[in-house]
Amino acid sequence: MKILLLGARGMLGRDLQPVLSAQHEVIGRDIQDLDIADPGQVGAEIGKLRPDAVLNLAAFTDVDGCEFQRERAFSVNAQGAENVARASEAAGAKLIHLSTDYVFDGNSPIPYKEEASPHPLNAYGESKLEGERAVQAAGGNHLILRTAWLYGRHGKNFVDTILRLASQQEELRVVNDQKGSPTFTRDLSRAIAQLLERDPRGIIHVTNSGSCTWFEFTEKILTLKPPLDRRVRIVPISSSELNRPARRPAFSTLDCSRFERVTGRRMRNWEEGLQEYLS
Ligand SMILES: NC(=O)c1ccc[n+]([C@@H]2O[C@H](COP(=O)([O-])OP(=O)(O)OC[C@H]3O[C@@H](n4cnc5c(N)ncnc54)[C@H](OP(=O)(O)O)[C@@H]3O)[C@@H](O)[C@H]2O)c1
Repeated sequence: MKILLLGARGMLGRDLQPVLSAQHEVIGRDIQDLDIADPGQVGAEIGKLRPDAVLNLAAFTDVDGCEFQRERAFSVNAQGAENVARASEAAGAKLIHLSTDYVFDGNSPIPYKEEASPHPLNAYGESKLEGERAVQAAGGNHLILRTAWLYGRHGKNFVDTILRLASQQEELRVVNDQKGSPTFTRDLSRAIAQLLERDPRGIIHVTNSGSCTWFEFTEKILTLKPPLDRRVRIVPISSSELNRPARRPAFSTLDCSRFERVTGRRMRNWEEGLQEYLS
């Protein structure tokens, strides 16, 4: 298959490209070569390359930054998604579009299924939801893949931040009232490769299984990789104490049973993924 990977230099893209390249011809593009917010550029590139599949990972992913740069958030995450979806449809290419657990408000008592009603709490989630709707409206063969709480070797992420802070501070204050599923980009990359073969359509949720709060995630990170020379105290705090610009859902665990039906396997537990990442 000839695959066009958009957002190829991002955290997920850099893990996904080698996984897909083992079986497919992969052409990677990122903001330096192709701005997805520009419909002319997107149409010309997809029209010229004529890929069998387009994987759109490109996004403005700074959740707090989106609050202050709403225009950029919508231009990339919503208009950009629409540009990619229209051009993919015109070229007859299948589109896999990445989206987020932050389309939900976190009020559900149970993990979110694909058909649950979205209701984002922040500008990032709103812009990503508008992107999902544009992909659906374009009408081509598409799969919207919602994932969550990504970490990987090639990007700024929570695990590395905790390890760095733990080497500098004696106390870490970490939010204990947001629950989700930390997901290793290498595990997600293998899942995407599998979904490309199976070709399900519509929306699908894919994360590592199980869930925890950011505080519990921190405890696990520092149990698996304790600072060498001293003890670090981890203090649970509430989101209101942290007071970040963007509101986050209290509970954004995704129900991945559709993925399990489609692929015949369950994503491994987040703790196993973390163990591999830290080793
Ligand atoms: N990270 C998470 O926890 C998480 C959770 C749920 C869903 N997702 C979704 O998963 C996907 C991949 O996430 P990620 O963590 O790999 O993000 P990332 O590291 O920020 O990668 C996204 C890439 O897209 C590029 N980009 C930004 N604006 C662009 C534009 N206008 N045209 C073309 N490329 C552009 C970025 O370049 P710059 O870095 O120069 O801006 C970056 O290289 C995204 O769609 C994201 O919304 C992520």
